[in-house]
Amino acid sequence: MSNVYASNHPLIAHKLSILRDKNTTPKKFRELVKEIAALLTYEATADLAVSPLEIETPLTAMSAHELKEKIGLVPILRAGLGMVEGVWELMPNSEVWHLGLYRDEKTLRPVEYYNKLPLDPRVSVCLLLDPMLATGGSATAAADVLKRWGVKKIKYVGIIAAPEGIKTLQTAHPDIDIYLAAIDERLNERGYIVPGLGDAGDRQFGTG
Ligand code: PRP
Ligand code: URA
Repeated sequence: MSNVYASNHPLIAHKLSILRDKNTTPKKFRELVKEIAALLTYEATADLAVSPLEIETPLTAMSAHELKEKIGLVPILRAGLGMVEGVWELMPNSEVWHLGLYRDEKTLRPVEYYNKLPLDPRVSVCLLLDPMLATGGSATAAADVLKRWGVKKIKYVGIIAAPEGIKTLQTAHPDIDIYLAAIDERLNERGYIVPGLGDAGDRQFGTG
């Protein structure tokens, strides 16, 4: 079974409280999503492979390291978009591949509406970015797409998850490790995470 990491870092806890607050403006919300995504990525990338690299400092030659694998960032539209910038700043050589999925409000099932992945994968590790893991339907469908594409290693980086979503993703994809800022109590009857933060897409884009 995959590992689930729920951060207990004080910076993440502090930023998450502001993110959840219903009075937080879309501008501040976007800033926090970006920052939390970057902090979580620091933890999620701790086991990336490196290869040796010979460099010269102003003083001497030395053996150093560089990232070995080609990394893909895959935000699930729309809400995952806000996470890209923070992660990309840390790994500017990553490729960004967008996947469009929305959750049908009645069935709560994911509907795919955008996929521009090239025929063959050009990356070996993908970070799947989406702030909310609710029923887990969207994350599972996105991981299905990435595996069909041929990606060997996928890590899910989210912000808030419900236990139901974690279980669904783990059951379908036991090889995918899950990195989160928090695991909340439950889903409500409309499939929203409680206490959660509301609709992450609407709060970022001001469309609520
Ligand atoms: C939200 C969220 C996830 C999905 C999670 O997106 O960003 O993609 O719901 O729910 P699930 O785990 O039950 O599938 P939404 O469908 O609201 O689309 P949006 O990002 O365009 O607002
Ligand atoms: N999508 C969201 O944006 N928020 C939730 O609580 C559940 C799904």
